[in-house]
Amino acid sequence: MGRCEALSRLRQSLMTSAVKVRPAIASDRAPLGRLGALLVGEHHDFDPKRFIAPLPNLSERYGDFLIGQSQRPDMRVLVAERDDTVVGYAFAGIEGNDYMALRGPAGVIYDLVVDPDHRRQGIGSALLSATLDALTGLGAPRALLFTADKNHVAQALFDKSGFRRTMIEMTLELGEGPPGG
Ligand SMILES: CC(C)(COP(=O)(O)OP(=O)(O)OC[C@H]1O[C@@H](n2cnc3c(N)ncnc32)[C@H](O)[C@@H]1OP(=O)(O)O)[C@@H](O)C(=O)NCCC(=O)NCCS
Repeated sequence: MGRCEALSRLRQSLMTSAVKVRPAIASDRAPLGRLGALLVGEHHDFDPKRFIAPLPNLSERYGDFLIGQSQRPDMRVLVAERDDTVVGYAFAGIEGNDYMALRGPAGVIYDLVVDPDHRRQGIGSALLSATLDALTGLGAPRALLFTADKNHVAQALFDKSGFRRTMIEMTLELGEGPPGG
């Protein structure tokens, strides 16, 4: 490893060490809502026909939704906090058999998002690791998640964290038909 890379990794680990991952509490409602709306917007940008557009008041509604979910025994909402500011969150839960998906019980990761100003500093990895621990604590035998086809950044994180690829969602806009059809 070169000197510059070593210094960069040291700086990253020092910055990351200031990040704490903890369960969400009611006063996290506003930053959770802001980050949740950001997640919706980033997915809409990937494919506006497949992913819903951010609705008016989405931040408030998403914040309310996540705080509600955090109070359920089968759900976990974790936040990453740096200098008393929430800079990311993860939302996951344990589900039973899903015969439509041909699977048994699993921990499902629904949301994972880090504030753009704090990305690439290990926070997404820390949130993912804490989420996997939480799902293990809920008794989940495996974890799974869905990621947008164009979301190569998230896929790199999940690949690196040991997830294997198991399903591909495909979408056709009805009325448009296949190209050249
Ligand atoms: C995906 C996301 C949560 C990653 O958070 P993060 O804090 O930046 O991730 P980390 O710093 O822990 O990165 C871990 C690994 O992910 C990969 N990665 C992260 N950002 C990357 C980038 N811009 N380009 C390529 N790989 C990247 C790398 O393998 C990285 O490891 P490395 O830094 O040792 O190379 C963040 O980019 C995000 O919030 N994206 C928008 C929301 C989203 O797409 N969520 C996932 C779907 S629900």
